[in-house]
Amino acid sequence: MIKYLGSKRRLVPVLRALFEASGARTALDLFTGTTRVAQAFKEAGGLVTAVDCTRFAAVFAECYVATDARAVDRHALEEALAGLDELPGVPGYVTETFSRRARYFQPHNAARIDAVREAIASHYAGSPLEPLLLTSLLEAADRVDSTTGVQMAYVKKWAPRSFAPLRLRLPALLPGAGTAVRGDACQLAPSLGAFDFAYLDPPYNQHRYDANYHVWETIVAWDAPGAYGVACKREEIRTGPRSAFNSRRTMPGALAQTVKDLQADVVVLSYNDESFLGLDELVEICAVRGHVECLEFPSARYVGARIGIHNPAGERVGTVGRLHNVEYVLVSGARADVQRTLRPLRAEGPAPAIGATSA
Ligand SMILES: C[S@@+](CC[C@H](N)C(=O)[O-])C[C@H]1O[C@@H](n2cnc3c(N)ncnc32)[C@H](O)[C@@H]1O
Repeated sequence: MIKYLGSKRRLVPVLRALFEASGARTALDLFTGTTRVAQAFKEAGGLVTAVDCTRFAAVFAECYVATDARAVDRHALEEALAGLDELPGVPGYVTETFSRRARYFQPHNAARIDAVREAIASHYAGSPLEPLLLTSLLEAADRVDSTTGVQMAYVKKWAPRSFAPLRLRLPALLPGAGTAVRGDACQLAPSLGAFDFAYLDPPYNQHRYDANYHVWETIVAWDAPGAYGVACKREEIRTGPRSAFNSRRTMPGALAQTVKDLQADVVVLSYNDESFLGLDELVEICAVRGHVECLEFPSARYVGARIGIHNPAGERVGTVGRLHNVEYVLVSGARADVQRTLRPLRAEGPAPAIGATSA
């Protein structure tokens, strides 16, 4: 899986335990990102729908959630990956934009990304293998990038991993059906259908995911967009719509409406303590579902916060901020459903469940 801000790697066991304890069969992961939470629900036997507004997350959802591993022609997939992995580099848009103008990839890898992406477009567009091959390419590119984890700037010296050659790997597909949807959570929430369990992990602040991961957007779109600024971001990021969840002004209303609009028995929301909304406001938003309880988890902050703020020349220009924050997990729904969902975690003792709020 790619490096991703706000990815719920550490919370996955908790979220999976909540899903299993709830007795749910159908699950929604409304801000799916890497899809790691949706994958955990699918592994636990859930029939999962994964939603995100970005192109690359929709590709991951097609690959890991919507694709049934049992229905994939594994031989054809392995053969396709082997063929792509052998292609020599052919410099194109990625080389020019993300290796010469910006420095996200070393030239040898940028040219290979160009060649592989072009071949996927020529031979696999529209086929069931397309999202699997694109996922393999994005994950391979992520393993050899030269960033601190976001694509808003590149590091001054090539990152050690960027010297390694790009290598395509077989994505770890899961058996079972599922659904991938690309779109805006606010608009989709009323029409996605009914779920036993819905998980919401909206962005925490003004930093846009389509901007932070614009290189992945461009590799998926493969539309050679105009690029601006030091980071060579897609022109549409300057001009196009922005998510309501990335603005302090619009986020509270968007979240409240989304939580209200969902058809789900249990709604689980994760958020943290340095975001637009405080815990009291989050509880109030979830109270529309009925009873609300909250778990709290201390967590180490994003590596960028630990190494300080740097300008494009790599010089330190800021101070190191807080090193820890608290991750909230709010569980809401009918009282009996919420209590059943939380029972195994409560039974484990006081840690990690240290907060309980009833509305
Ligand atoms: C905190 S991240 C989710 C991380 C994910 N749970 C994981 O573990 O990888 C928030 C996600 O919300 C998506 N997003 C932002 N605004 C959105 C919107 N209006 N509708 C749907 N998805 C949105 C972003 O693209 C991003 O992937």
